[in-house]
Amino acid sequence: LTHGIADDIVSTLLLAHPGPVIAAPAMNDNMWAHPSTQQNLGTLRARGVHLIEPGEGWLACGVESKGRLAEPEDIVAEVERVLDLAGPERGFWRDRRVLVTAGPTREPVDAIRYLSNRSTGVMGTALAAELVRLGARVTLITGPGTATAPDGLAQHVDVTTAAEMAAAVDRALDAGQDWLVMAAAVADFAPREVREGKVKKETQGGGWTLELSRTPDILTDVVAPRRGDLRVVGFALETGAVLERAAAKREAKGMDWIVANDPTATGGAFGDAPHTVHLIGPDGPAWSSPEPATKARLAAALLREIARAEMTAGGEGPA
Ligand code: C5P
Repeated sequence: LTHGIADDIVSTLLLAHPGPVIAAPAMNDNMWAHPSTQQNLGTLRARGVHLIEPGEGWLACGVESKGRLAEPEDIVAEVERVLDLAGPERGFWRDRRVLVTAGPTREPVDAIRYLSNRSTGVMGTALAAELVRLGARVTLITGPGTATAPDGLAQHVDVTTAAEMAAAVDRALDAGQDWLVMAAAVADFAPREVREGKVKKETQGGGWTLELSRTPDILTDVVAPRRGDLRVVGFALETGAVLERAAAKREAKGMDWIVANDPTATGGAFGDAPHTVHLIGPDGPAWSSPEPATKARLAAALLREIARAEMTAGGEGPA
């Protein structure tokens, strides 16, 4: 590219292309560090080529060093930035303090057993990752067994039970937040008493009746009493009359926005199978995913749609 040699399809296209060029080089670490490579990169930079530096990590040649292809999200972000694809709402989340909860909670029955649900935390961690990418200051609270937390968080808190999640949300609100995104599937019921040790089947006869009590409803009991200017995005999982029930829940729980999942629709709602969501705001249904999509794509779209609506509702420009 530096020397204008056009002897294959890629270098030919590059020489014929008059528009912007974004390059994400990847190579052996010694090749990358070589003065010849560095000089050529300097020439390309001077010509206006947008370079996305390789990352550090395990290389195909068997060493850990600089030379890995940049992460796909970083390449996408640079493409959006250079081509100005993202529109003005991209700046909406920059520097905002956003608290995100993700994953299930786990309510102990005895020292060995627990009650939980099928949440994987993929949606919450995808939202946190996208918010980091958009420049927000993100605190992520995750339940057990949750999808990997993204890099670049302001804070990450791991919890197990609904009560612990409620306490962690309370503490994070103390620190000051602008937005709360409640993507966690908080258990609604927990065993009334946690039995000591492991309950032996020999002592239980033919069965065992567990008594359950309600866990704290985080939005109602922890968030509502101290709401202030905090903006709240909640989630709903309904198996019938999805839009109506989610809209009612938005009102009842005092959320600004609610994202409705329908586990009976294509792909279900758990894990990373592509699926469909509906976003409902103060003016009713605002957006639905046009086709089943991965949670990373849904996270980006939901944050873009919320930003767009908040900015047109007036008052709220980029922070
Ligand atoms: O009432 P339901 O559990 O369907 O409401 C879902 C929303 O409420 C989600 O945003 C969830 O994170 C939140 N929630 C909560 N505390 C609970 C249960 C759910 O804040 N105990």
